[in-house]
Amino acid sequence: MCGIFGVLARRDAVPLLLGGLALLEYRGYDSAGLAVLEEGGALRLLKSAGKVKDLCRKAAADAIRGRPGIAHTRWATHGPPTDLNAHPHACGGRLALVHNGIIENHEVLRREQVRRGCRFHSDTDTEVIVHELDRCPRGNGTGLPPRAAQEVLGRLEGSYALAILETGNRRLLAARRGSPLLIGLGCGAAAGEYYISSDLAALLPLTSRYLVLEDGDLAELDEEGARIYDAAGRRVTRPVTETRLDPASSDKGPHGHHMLKEIHEQPQAVRATLEAGLRAGVPQAAPWSSGDPEETERILAQVRRLHLVACGTSYHAALVAAYWLEKHARLPCRVDIASEFRYRDPVVEERTLFVCISQSGETADTLAALRRAREAGYLATLGICNTPQSALAREVQLLFLTRAGLERGVASTKAFTAQLAALQLLSLLLAKARGRPWEATARNLERLPERLRESLRLEQRIKDCAATLAAADHILFLGRGLLLPVAMEGALKLKEVSYLRAECYPAGELKHGPLALVEPGVRVVVPVLNGELLPKLRTNLEEVKARGGEMLLFVDPRTGLEDQQGVRVIHVPPTEDDFQAPLLYAPPLQLLAYHVALRRGTDIDQPRNLAKSVTVE
Ligand code: G6P
Repeated sequence: MCGIFGVLARRDAVPLLLGGLALLEYRGYDSAGLAVLEEGGALRLLKSAGKVKDLCRKAAADAIRGRPGIAHTRWATHGPPTDLNAHPHACGGRLALVHNGIIENHEVLRREQVRRGCRFHSDTDTEVIVHELDRCPRGNGTGLPPRAAQEVLGRLEGSYALAILETGNRRLLAARRGSPLLIGLGCGAAAGEYYISSDLAALLPLTSRYLVLEDGDLAELDEEGARIYDAAGRRVTRPVTETRLDPASSDKGPHGHHMLKEIHEQPQAVRATLEAGLRAGVPQAAPWSSGDPEETERILAQVRRLHLVACGTSYHAALVAAYWLEKHARLPCRVDIASEFRYRDPVVEERTLFVCISQSGETADTLAALRRAREAGYLATLGICNTPQSALAREVQLLFLTRAGLERGVASTKAFTAQLAALQLLSLLLAKARGRPWEATARNLERLPERLRESLRLEQRIKDCAATLAAADHILFLGRGLLLPVAMEGALKLKEVSYLRAECYPAGELKHGPLALVEPGVRVVVPVLNGELLPKLRTNLEEVKARGGEMLLFVDPRTGLEDQQGVRVIHVPPTEDDFQAPLLYAPPLQLLAYHVALRRGTDIDQPRNLAKSVTVE
């Protein structure tokens, strides 16, 4: 969603700001803007609806220069994506700011401010922050006093990450509550420079060293250094982290899109994730702990049931995991969508482990669900997350980090299979803790990355099939058992990136509704395992065929299913292993979504209206 970037340096901030915004694009947005202090210290704003490249064009035409500066990519919530609603917002030429999050009491504040005579220039909730801050008393030539600014921010309800710039003051303020914000620290020739970013990805070309602001923190950055004040106004230090992420991981390499690159990175993402959780083939408790492996083992040994909660693709990973956890650890499992769970009053049975899964660790609903779970009497909270600096990673009791690396395509691919790998490790760890067999399954994990590679080799065949699907306007996905959540994920991928209507049903539900949609020419996609459910699925396929539906089947060759009139078959690497199957069938469905979208000419890496991490409710 929205992205913040700020630069405090002795050089012109504009190119760095535009570079930072380009790296925030992947989060999803619909307008962009920046503000700098010009030579004489006056505030200059430049904003544009549309893409960062539109802002770049404007910046070049305007020859805007200055330092320090702040910049923003906006994903519209309050008010349409127009130049006026784009951030930064300013008032009276004294102060400009950019904001991520939502101010829930903005209407009340706005009414008060209008009564005081404030004039509004946008429809945004953000503009009330500018007017509130502008009231702060400040001395001659000095900027907003940090403590006074914090007191003003204390009146805001909702969430914010802010970067603030003031006329005549070569200083930046950064503050957060509920929305992530990092401070990057310049190194080498750039020592003494500071960068503000809502996302680590945008810092990577400039620095590998950063610190994470905590909720309630306000940072004051100027030529003398960085001073951080906590919510109570006390001067504090926050630990500096050095990331090992490679700045080149932001490039698309030889691939046309991040999504395609990330699909092909899956063997590596799965390998790295498995390696993090296994030692000599044995699942370890230590990588799941936040410090004390013995405590983790003690908790895991007590688990009697699990409750898995997530959003989007991560929710589909949880659905797959429920099959594994039931089968291998014989533990009852419930799976919920975070936005539903957070408003329920759950009955928590004794010794239930709460598991939340999130690529970004910043999804608002998943965080709210976690915070609710912490009060609800669960045995413990466990997070599976791909982002070490995220709120979720810091707030769970037990944490496992997936090793997918940076994922920039809005539609999640490698983070999904890495989550599946993590959930396999969890299933085995719990099976082991409960004295159930785990060794043979763990041994098979070693082959998983190589088998995934086999699956990715189907790309050409999938590409050939994409043309017919690209011309359809409605696609039905069906699945059974372990491959039902994989089919659901396939439908979600296709919808996200190709904008085609795609929906998924359990194949057994066909006669309870979706069969009414099937008529000659309707496209149906089905992943098919060679297992005990095959005869049932075959019957469903016949029902579709009898009504003229045209099917694309991803099948284990041993099913004997072959191309025929109205049926195209793609052979997926055969497997009997229930850990392998979802990971072998998911990538071909991702590739299908990608190639259909490519034919339809959509914005694959940044699909319209969608955001990489949904940081507001
Ligand atoms: C957004 C993204 C999806 C992602 C979902 C959950 O909708 O576009 O790709 O699956 O959020 O995100 P999380 O970071 O919590 O896994």
